[in-house]
Amino acid sequence: MGPKAIDAGRHPNIELLTYSEVEEVSGYVGNFVATIRKKARYVDHTLCNACEECVKVCPVSKPDEYQMGLSSRRAIYIPFPQAVPCSYILNMDDCLGNNPIACGKCADVCEKKAINYDDEDELVVREVGAVIVAIGLDVYDPTEMDEYGYTRHANVITSMEFERLICAGGPTAGHFVRPSDHERPKRIGFIQCVGSRNPKIGRPYCSNICCMNTIKDTLLLADHYPDTENFVFYQDIRAFGKSFEDMFQRSKETGTRYIRGLPGDVEEDPETGNLVVTVENTTQRGGNGRSGLERYELDMLVLSVGVIPPKDLAKISGMLTLSKTSDGFFMESHPKLKPVDAPTRGVFFAGFCESPKDIKDSVCQAGAASSRAGALLNAGQIQIEAITSRIDEIECKKCGLCAKICPYGAITWQKGEVATVIEAACAGCGSCGATCQFGAITMRHFTDDQLLAQVRAILARKPEDKVFVFACNWCSYAGGDMAGISRIKYSASNRVVRTMCSARVSEDMVLEAFRCGAPVVLVSGCHYADCHYINANRQTVVRVQRLWDKLEKAGVRPERLQLEWISAAEGQKFAKVMNQMEELRKTVTIKEIEHGREALKPKPKKAAKKKEAAATAG
Ligand code: FES
Repeated sequence: MGPKAIDAGRHPNIELLTYSEVEEVSGYVGNFVATIRKKARYVDHTLCNACEECVKVCPVSKPDEYQMGLSSRRAIYIPFPQAVPCSYILNMDDCLGNNPIACGKCADVCEKKAINYDDEDELVVREVGAVIVAIGLDVYDPTEMDEYGYTRHANVITSMEFERLICAGGPTAGHFVRPSDHERPKRIGFIQCVGSRNPKIGRPYCSNICCMNTIKDTLLLADHYPDTENFVFYQDIRAFGKSFEDMFQRSKETGTRYIRGLPGDVEEDPETGNLVVTVENTTQRGGNGRSGLERYELDMLVLSVGVIPPKDLAKISGMLTLSKTSDGFFMESHPKLKPVDAPTRGVFFAGFCESPKDIKDSVCQAGAASSRAGALLNAGQIQIEAITSRIDEIECKKCGLCAKICPYGAITWQKGEVATVIEAACAGCGSCGATCQFGAITMRHFTDDQLLAQVRAILARKPEDKVFVFACNWCSYAGGDMAGISRIKYSASNRVVRTMCSARVSEDMVLEAFRCGAPVVLVSGCHYADCHYINANRQTVVRVQRLWDKLEKAGVRPERLQLEWISAAEGQKFAKVMNQMEELRKTVTIKEIEHGREALKPKPKKAAKKKEAAATAG
């Protein structure tokens, strides 16, 4: 919040709901309904003139979250200097009690009578056509990686704490002092990649901002205190943006030393509070040809902490049926062609929640997201996908299974009622069509009949020589293309049927392939967290596992059915998998194929059996 938030608050077309939380979102593109909790402030901001009298009399003292706990605040406070509206809130968890007899001092001194202990949360409902998700980030907590002594040594701080200490509006009014003795540090070390690029703690990604933040910090120190010596311990410096390399060079020109290597150990001198850092400098070679081990005595150490997905991400993800990447951030609809669109239509991303990025990129993405939302709303109507599902009201047995598994929540169903598809929300993965046991769902352009006809046609002649492949449009099929354009050689025995998502492949399609004599069948799709239809390929896994059980029961080797995740960029992997499938095919005997054909024949339904018996008796 800041000047831009003030502008936003004044804009006639923007309603700014501060100190509020979205509780629920229902509906679909063009018709979202959001329920928002406006939290009780206990201070009427239309009356409050921020005179500060209440703060002076409040007896409560709590660590100030905005100042990273380096100073304290009262129970009644302005959360941060640029807060909009610029008025106090009363934190009821910290307040001595809303019973004025217990305290009530703030209400006594407030001339404007702005304090209301009986204030309550309010639920407001807003109908919106599009949603932009911009929920920001959280910062990595370095207590997990305590080898740098963050919890043990007073003079080890994080880059966020550094920010508050050097800020004129910070707890020390911008005088940079170390926490142990409030002396000005002369030798300051920075350790990069704390909580980033570390698969061991489940954070393999680069946080994108830490290198430039440290470079900026060294320039600030050099500007404020030219006599400080700065040391940066790093694995790589990533200064790839406009003018960033120039900043990096300027930092080096100020005398900041960049040492390639992350410290293994940090010790504290209990007398002085100074820190001794041992690091293997990989740019220096000792006499034995190995990297040189170096020790640095420092007054203060700054941990350049990475960023992590915001804690509310899971909640928002559930509300808007969004999926996450393996890093835990939101997954966009397409990384190149729709980088700000969520897979759920009408939802867009801005900023960190989609991936770590700096302010400039966040602003660009926010502009793109609002333009995309504006274009959608101004069009007045939307183009629906050509490939959507349709439910046959007569065939539907009202079981509701399709509604449960639809990753987009695009199917509505009430107990005892026929399911209906919201076509504007359907993205066409086909998972519902593959799940429906009653043939009540038709996927336009990928109907059961069309796909089964392809299976039968491919295996009509010499099926024993073929590797049968179902490949999803977005990844595995594109992986095959990549293998082709990369001129990678692989076995020519495969025959591919394309579906939009691997979740469109029904059990019957796989069984039909075996009935038609396929020696081996491969179901392939996008990597598990990368399905282009949110998480539809979870259904693929469930279905394939069920098929393996069925094959085993029927005496068919389950390994004749394989499941592989191949991305669009993995031409090499596509070729490798095809070669492996070919090797597997060679192990399948004609006898096995014939057994499979027979054993997997559909069992006649009871009604059909009765009819047959009656006909025989007649
Ligand atoms: Fe590839 Fe779903 S789109 S598996």
